[in-house]
Amino acid sequence: EKIEWDFEAAEKAGYEHFMLKEIHEQVSAIHNTLAGKVSELEGTIYLKELNMTEDEIRRLSRIQILACGTSWHAGLLGKYLFEQLAGIHCDIDICSEYRYRNPVMDDGMLAIAITQSGETADTLAAVREVASYNCPTLAITNVVGSTITREVDSVLYTRAGPEIGVAATKTFSTQLTLLYLLAVKFALSRGKLSHNYVKGFITDLRKIPGQIQQILNQKETVKECAEAFAHAKSYFFLGRHLNYPIALEGALKLKEISYLHAEGFAAGELKHGPIALLEKGTPVVTIATKGQTYDKVLSNIKEVKARDATVIAIAGNKDTEIGKYADVVLTIPQSSELLSPLLSVVVLQLLAYYTALARGCSIDKPRNLAKSVTVE
Ligand code: AGP
Repeated sequence: EKIEWDFEAAEKAGYEHFMLKEIHEQVSAIHNTLAGKVSELEGTIYLKELNMTEDEIRRLSRIQILACGTSWHAGLLGKYLFEQLAGIHCDIDICSEYRYRNPVMDDGMLAIAITQSGETADTLAAVREVASYNCPTLAITNVVGSTITREVDSVLYTRAGPEIGVAATKTFSTQLTLLYLLAVKFALSRGKLSHNYVKGFITDLRKIPGQIQQILNQKETVKECAEAFAHAKSYFFLGRHLNYPIALEGALKLKEISYLHAEGFAAGELKHGPIALLEKGTPVVTIATKGQTYDKVLSNIKEVKARDATVIAIAGNKDTEIGKYADVVLTIPQSSELLSPLLSVVVLQLLAYYTALARGCSIDKPRNLAKSVTVE
């Protein structure tokens, strides 16, 4: 008897799509990224792949991040981390723009390229540009032996495992994880953070995989929400501070796989134009986790409500206030303000996934998109 063997189904390990499988794999992927890199006891980060001396780290005058798409969103959060934690000025550019704007480079600059595939043509070209000025380069990538790894001075691997779905999920959260580690390491080297603080940070970081699992355990709630708004004309995503890049990522995920019009904004920019787009019932996903901008986000939610739009808030599960203002609340486990983006993004990935599912879209291979863009 001949046994039919469906290789793709076997690879999906019971999940309907690679994307859903990869969203779930974030629990183990982040664990793998962290393996051997953190010591909770000492409050220290070990990045032995980083070919930089302590002295070189101390002498850094600025960082230039180069990336495209989802990797660019990771980099945007990285900018906030390098500046806030390590006190290093950080710029970030979309690679296809960087080369053509006559960038100014100076001594003491470190360029960090972020690319899942390590093959994105625009990112490779931008890295070649900075390398031609003898600027030290570092790559954060997922693919061992990819082209970028041969072009840079140091490589940090995300160790997320192969990502088949065109929409980046586990590679995004592991890129973020490495950026947290790098920023904290730089902060330690430059005397901006104490080992004691870092102990607490590592304790919180190690809780993240388990907290992602908790979010996955309640994915039905996100599914119900996605189904309720699956036929909206357009969707908006708002976030402030560390959650601004996450809002952009939530919008990109939704447009990529569900073909719904979606836009992400810094919540404070709403009143400078985008608010004109709001109509009765427009879904506005607002990341409203507790932190220094929480009150401001609540004001933004009130502005949105005043236009009869529908607020879907992402909030901590201990928040008793948010339910008074939002129409739908999707909760995440309580975590530090610093690390909560790693949790909020999982909700947004699920929202995009279930919206695309409800709309009958080709989730793993969306129209017009390739996994890596190897042409400029
Ligand atoms: C992510 O969901 C997209 N498929 C896309 O934006 C991607 O992040 C971008 O093309 C960059 O790819 P890279 O990380 O492999 O360089």
